[in-house]
Amino acid sequence: MNKLTSEQSTYWSELANTYVWKKKWDTLVSGDFYKADIKWFEGAELNITENCLDRHLEKRRQKKALIFEPNDPKEPSSFLTYGELHLSVCRFANLLKSRGINKGDVVCFYMGMTPEFMIGVLACARIGAVHTVVFGGFSPLSLRGRLEDSKAKMIVTHDGAYRGDKNTPLKDMVDECLEGTDLIKTVLVVKRTNQEIKMKEGRDYYYEALIKGVDLHCAPVPVKAEDPLFILYTSGSTGKPKGLLHTAAGYMVHVGKSFMDVFQYKENDIFWCTADIGWITGHSYTTYGPLLNGATTVMYEGIPTYPNASRFWEIIEKHKITHLYTAPTAIRALEKFGNEIPDSFQMTTLKVLGSVGEPINEEAWQWYSKHVGKDRCPIVDTWWQTETGGIMISPQAGLTKTKPGYATLPLPGIVPCLLDEKGKEITDMVAGGNLCIKTPWPSLARTIYGDHERFIQTYFSTYPGYYFTGDGARREADGYYRLTGRVDDVINVSGHRIGTAEVEEAINQHPDVVESAVVGLPHPVKGQGLYAFVIARTNTRNNNDLEKEIRETVNKIIGPIAKPDLIQIVEGLPKTRSGKIMRRVLRKIVENDVENIGDTSTLLNPEIIEKMIQEKKTLDS
Ligand code: WT7
Repeated sequence: MNKLTSEQSTYWSELANTYVWKKKWDTLVSGDFYKADIKWFEGAELNITENCLDRHLEKRRQKKALIFEPNDPKEPSSFLTYGELHLSVCRFANLLKSRGINKGDVVCFYMGMTPEFMIGVLACARIGAVHTVVFGGFSPLSLRGRLEDSKAKMIVTHDGAYRGDKNTPLKDMVDECLEGTDLIKTVLVVKRTNQEIKMKEGRDYYYEALIKGVDLHCAPVPVKAEDPLFILYTSGSTGKPKGLLHTAAGYMVHVGKSFMDVFQYKENDIFWCTADIGWITGHSYTTYGPLLNGATTVMYEGIPTYPNASRFWEIIEKHKITHLYTAPTAIRALEKFGNEIPDSFQMTTLKVLGSVGEPINEEAWQWYSKHVGKDRCPIVDTWWQTETGGIMISPQAGLTKTKPGYATLPLPGIVPCLLDEKGKEITDMVAGGNLCIKTPWPSLARTIYGDHERFIQTYFSTYPGYYFTGDGARREADGYYRLTGRVDDVINVSGHRIGTAEVEEAINQHPDVVESAVVGLPHPVKGQGLYAFVIARTNTRNNNDLEKEIRETVNKIIGPIAKPDLIQIVEGLPKTRSGKIMRRVLRKIVENDVENIGDTSTLLNPEIIEKMIQEKKTLDS
């Protein structure tokens, strides 16, 4: 592994010195990329919420920390100052303690985007408990898998969550998840929709009832630098979701600084990251990044198109937003409604636009720049991952010349490189290859919770001595990086990572399915969709019914976000003689790029391909 240069060491230690510590570190960094035992700031003690809240109180007690915009535009928005957020977090932290949550205990959040969500997450960090957030779009079964894996002691949820014209009955879903188990001791319900729910005596409590009279003072509990801060699940190319574990100090140090570097936030700016706290973006740039810097962060409960496609632009004008950080899929969805809508809004306060989650196509980039940014706001196309904790490659707003489709240059302290198929580092500047990171950085995830071997296998074994991202990239003469998409069996649907193996496993649960293969389908709004080839047990059934049931099965096992867009019932799948499905061939079929399928003569069943192509033609027409 490449060791840090002395400049890198100086950079990270000087940066770390800008934070508040209970005790400074003895060792800046240790470990290597072979054992994947990286540790930062060992010997140090700190609390991230002291850095997010307490240290701002002197100057920013009255400053807005959080602006909340509800789903329904008729419902008034609200805000919390730094002073108020601090008290709310302390109070919630005391409530957690009173329910037996201590340092190191895991608390699961399954919520809609409300202030209590952010307050609760910070309350965990306040007492050294570990948060694990499960996005509300995951099914009760998915939730159960994550609870079992993380050994969470408590769930915090809502009666229901509003998103657009939908009301997700989160508490009912929790009940379904916990049915017949005693996995969880306490379910804490924050009221949002006031719908009728069942409350199980001795397990379920209303937040509103418990919080009354709780003490507003709670000193930040010092934790060790490498103590866990949170576990966040994400899909991989194989097997069940991986619980990536992030630790306290390193995460804080890079996330705080990257927020400033990328967005160039100024004291009175209003920062809006549209990501749900269920994803890493919502952790790092809706919550921790802005708060670490004493910024005003905006939290929106709803979706871009509710009640109509003006909503984003209205929110920007209403709250005088200066920074909008969103996903290409949202941009493309809004673009579909035409230019007139954003063109009828001045949005004069906007200064910086951000993009995250997937490669942004040039057309969407230009549209975003012109119709939202009015050609005066730089676009920061930020590349990073759940595993990297914070942004890695991105323009620094106003400082880096942007180029559509390019995430441009690495942030300070970050050293990316490209490796060829043989695992050799490419030294030519202009090249394409597999994107790796050469040296450790503080906010790298430390392990896959409960499975360190898998952590090593997934990220550190393909190219020994390097962190492998799973992404392909091109580098140009100016050193700019352009991300070209995943090189593994991971599909990026609307900026959400979905492992094909996981979806296939779910599809195969249907009793009439023999086997399935899922590949990415180019999709005009979502970037990629899911295309499933399915071998059915009998061909006497009506395919339409079977397709419907397959979608329902996936919905139940994973959740609505993993439902296949298209299902093709097939007689067989192209396989090698050793029985491996040839996904490369399937991808070509889905992309209608059949001329480039390549040599199939070594396949076990090459004749199946022509049949699949013909059947797809019938489906398409
Ligand atoms: C994967 C990580 C990073 C937070 C949101 C998603 C893709 C992310 C970009 C970008 C091209 C991107 C990569 C990456 N990705 N940002 N700016 N340009 N691709 O986090 O779920 O961990 O997914 O998203 O493929 O590996 P995630």
